[in-house]
Amino acid sequence: MIVLLIGTGAREHALARALSLDPAVTQLHAAPGNPGIATLSTHAGRPSTLHGVDPLDGTAVAALAAAVKADLVVVGPEAPLVAGVADALRAAGIPVFGPSGEAAMLEGSKAFAKEVMAAANVPTAEPRVCETPQQLEEALDAFGAPHVVKDDGLAAGKGVVVTSDRAEAQAHGNAILDAGGRIVVEDFLDGPEVSLFCLCDGTTVVPLQPAQDFKRAHDGDAGPNTGGMGAYTPLPWAPEGLVDEVVRTVAQPTVDEMARRGTPFVGVLYCGLALTSKGTRVVEFNARFGDPETQVVLARLATPLAGVLLAAAQGRLAEIPPLEWKNDAAVTVVVAAQHYPASPRKGDPIEGIEGAEAVETVHVLHAGTARDADGTLVSNGGRVLSVTALGADLAEARERAYQGVEEIRLEGSHHRTDIAERAAAGEDLLGA
Ligand code: GLY
Repeated sequence: MIVLLIGTGAREHALARALSLDPAVTQLHAAPGNPGIATLSTHAGRPSTLHGVDPLDGTAVAALAAAVKADLVVVGPEAPLVAGVADALRAAGIPVFGPSGEAAMLEGSKAFAKEVMAAANVPTAEPRVCETPQQLEEALDAFGAPHVVKDDGLAAGKGVVVTSDRAEAQAHGNAILDAGGRIVVEDFLDGPEVSLFCLCDGTTVVPLQPAQDFKRAHDGDAGPNTGGMGAYTPLPWAPEGLVDEVVRTVAQPTVDEMARRGTPFVGVLYCGLALTSKGTRVVEFNARFGDPETQVVLARLATPLAGVLLAAAQGRLAEIPPLEWKNDAAVTVVVAAQHYPASPRKGDPIEGIEGAEAVETVHVLHAGTARDADGTLVSNGGRVLSVTALGADLAEARERAYQGVEEIRLEGSHHRTDIAERAAAGEDLLGA
């Protein structure tokens, strides 16, 4: 099978790695890819190929897919999906794992997602959509602190502010309005958060294993929101039956509602959940794999990935055997550039990846990296690397991941030291 992967981050490196390990994949192409994906070879030893094609240009992506004779295109990030890249591929008759532009609006508009959830009776916080400063004031008064203020549209991980500081909530909302956007204000959902990725083929839902992400920049969930500073799976503290419950009450009704509207959802329905004192609630939907949760979820997936994604793309998920999982636990720790998330410093040499990968089970996934003119690997983004490890349990996976992180040398870089710490210590996060 010839596979073309669209995207450039550590999530895409994790997807590419899993695809390269699938014996069915004979050629692996990526656009634009990254220096980590460039080092991969297929199971049979054929090096991956990177293509300098704009991932947001559906016509160019479809032309590339045709030129390389792709049997499957996997679209990683949300922006190409919302821009309709999957539609261009489907129109060209190429199987694609990723929703249409209309279906990707489950991520592209928080107000739309709330409307679909209301129609499908999916449990979530009651929203108020605001288009004026006065509506924002009223909504902040109505819900009280902590305030949850979301950009309705895509905001590259910077759209949501959760704060008890009303002035901060107001400033965030007003900045969105000033930029011509809409705001969604909603009730704060207490309780630990869980990410569950559901593979969908428009009709059938196949859940992966749940993971937990760490969104704040610093230890103890302090500091600003980021794209995610680390993740782990499994979740020993999660209630039994959580996955079945989420498929039954969240994912399947949403997929059914999208099909009913004539905009079937094909791809990953990322259910961002809060396990609140009143029950499981959807915090948000995304229309793609999460980053960095994908790094740990795919590290544990034993079933070859390409056949599963192709089955989803072709509407055949009901026919595939149950997914198989390794017994190991997985932990990933993000190494971020100095001053991430505010203004990440770029262009610094990165060393120590080989040393990190010499630690048992550790693999290092590239995100914000690039090769400079003389071929040196340098930082080129906020989240630079995802250092990922497996272990017999979370404690062992954690220890190995942090041993790997210690090997990485990148001036000014920072990482959280508490990824998976509480879960590895056997804490009941639900009771905390
Ligand atoms: N881990 C958060 C996200 O992928 O949006």
